Amino acid sequence: MSENIESVLNETRLFEPAEDFVARARIKAVDLEALHRKAESDYEGFWGDLAREEIDWHKPFTKTLDDSRAPHFGWFTDGLLNISWNCLDRHLAQRGDQAAIIFEGEPGDTRRISYRELHAEVCRFANGLKAQGVQKGDRVVIYMPMIPEAVVAMQACARIGAIHSVVFGGFSAEALRDRVNDAGAKMIVTSDGGHRGGKVVELKQAVDKAIDHGCPSIEKVVVFKRCGNDVVMRKEDVWWHDVIAGQADQCDPEWVDAEHPLFLLYTSGSTGKPKGIQHATGGYLLNAIVTNKWVFDMHDGDVFWCTADVGWITGHSYVAYGPLAIGGTEVIYEGTPTVPDAGRFWKVCQDHGVTIFYTAPTAIRALMKLGETWPEKYDLSKLRLLGTVGEPINPEAWMWYHTVIGKERCPIVDTWWQTETGAHMIAPVPGAMPTKPGSCTRPLPGIIADVVNEEGHPVGANQGGLLVIKKPWPSMLRTIWGDDDRFRKTYWGQFGGKYYLAGDSARRDEDGYFWIMGRIDDVLNVSGHRLGTMEVESALVAHPRVAEAAVVGRPHDVKGEAIVAFVICKGERPTGATAEAMLKELREWVSQEIGPIAKPDDIRFADNLPKTRSGKIMRRLLRSIARGEEITQDTSTLENEQVVLQLQGKA
Ligand code: PRX
Repeated sequence: MSENIESVLNETRLFEPAEDFVARARIKAVDLEALHRKAESDYEGFWGDLAREEIDWHKPFTKTLDDSRAPHFGWFTDGLLNISWNCLDRHLAQRGDQAAIIFEGEPGDTRRISYRELHAEVCRFANGLKAQGVQKGDRVVIYMPMIPEAVVAMQACARIGAIHSVVFGGFSAEALRDRVNDAGAKMIVTSDGGHRGGKVVELKQAVDKAIDHGCPSIEKVVVFKRCGNDVVMRKEDVWWHDVIAGQADQCDPEWVDAEHPLFLLYTSGSTGKPKGIQHATGGYLLNAIVTNKWVFDMHDGDVFWCTADVGWITGHSYVAYGPLAIGGTEVIYEGTPTVPDAGRFWKVCQDHGVTIFYTAPTAIRALMKLGETWPEKYDLSKLRLLGTVGEPINPEAWMWYHTVIGKERCPIVDTWWQTETGAHMIAPVPGAMPTKPGSCTRPLPGIIADVVNEEGHPVGANQGGLLVIKKPWPSMLRTIWGDDDRFRKTYWGQFGGKYYLAGDSARRDEDGYFWIMGRIDDVLNVSGHRLGTMEVESALVAHPRVAEAAVVGRPHDVKGEAIVAFVICKGERPTGATAEAMLKELREWVSQEIGPIAKPDDIRFADNLPKTRSGKIMRRLLRSIARGEEITQDTSTLENEQVVLQLQGKA
């Protein structure tokens, strides 16, 4: 772990928010201090009062925090609510005609959907789901492009108490099948295809393949017609437009208790099997609401654009639920940032008058490489706040974002959080504090974060350690679907159930600002997406010619981390042209097994993997090799020292 924890950053610049930003901000420095003080003096009262103010309850709760079954904490347990009602119905009187969603497809088609229209769409689809046999508690997998219907499907599930599990449209048929089966889903909602990167991504075809490879729990597949590409409608398939035909545009919400599971979302961990992170309704909604207010400082008239896909947690909390729950207007864009050219993101910002823009450092770095002429072509003067998420942002990219996109006028909120935390945990409250390039700043009110050593003792300023959360918070994960043991061990095992272990290393500077240093487990962060090294290794060894594989990360200037795989083949070690061919085949193979995001950037073939006498793969050595560093580790225990040369590509 120590190699992770050594802190190399030495960034001291401080950026104060502009006066006019502060003047309008929902939360100013005094308000923030008051919130922190209240959370410190009366933790339950703090969250309980917020939950009463921010959520419309069908039946009010009487108990704020139930810690009798720790680490299974319950929040607002005896309250009844519906999240779709909170996102839609409660705004109709005031905001019926206001745009909820401004959509732009990759080919350039646009749609403006008002709150009234979105409500009607969600109700029709919710009624349709019921007519297709979906009931409260059933799991529905959503495998869609980034179009409004993805949000409609999620909201419709929530409306009837069904549990959705969105699978990112970039995942392969195999990855989809594994998630469908783990969730025991009854239905898949998909579309014929989606527009991405100038091509049609054939989603329905992937669903067919997943089902052919065994999804015994699936009874129905609902297909939205987006691209008009050819699809074969099979016995389990039904068109979206047929599902909603004749359905009423009103649908009474199912009032669920606050702990009712809202969704599962699969994410990578240290083993080969992704974890179905389970979130509850009430607590999740509360943190989604307060972070949209505190961190994004959303006001009436703002146009918010979070570029994340609904296949990730960011697309749940800051596309599908949070912005709608506070009655905001948001942009949804279907495609990639560089179609038809590298100005697309900035054109979308200009054309729809985006005021708050939230994206990933990897996108910023990629766009930065393409040069300033692209953003300079567009009017970005409406932007007033910028955000980042998913991985540490390097100060250089931060400064580019600040000067070239934000014109030194817009605060940047670098938000640290996870699929498991449900919402921002450590992030600036932009009108209330200065920011530092590369730091996610301070924990939000009510989030008790710390940096501790292996024994759980806080470490001093600027010393690296483990990032922990010391008190439960409303939007925390409730368990791992079907694997409660793994939930207890992964997150609560290390400190006897006392603290939540995030799996990141961090340091805190003398001002109490947090600097995230990276993962402490075998999880890679490739373009802001989590991938377990074991997951990629399992995919590789599933290939008939692969005997053994080890996967490590190496720094990459756009993607954050690149994947390097060390592979031992059955039979002869491939060299020369055979190695080239094998490399291509394995990259394609991993893409089929998991998805294009998991394709190794580099594959090295050897006769053996370097192992210790006790048989453990020497991962640190592999990491050094992958980075092209000089080998300082003791390799004398290796059976075959030649292996190191092979892995370095020198033999
Ligand atoms: O390592 C941290 C990194 O992303 C991990 C969570 O990944 P995921 O569950 O896919 O959620 C991503 C979107 C919330 C964390 O454990 N991470 C996320 N945000 C940041 C970050 N690392 C540094 N700075 C951030 N702002």
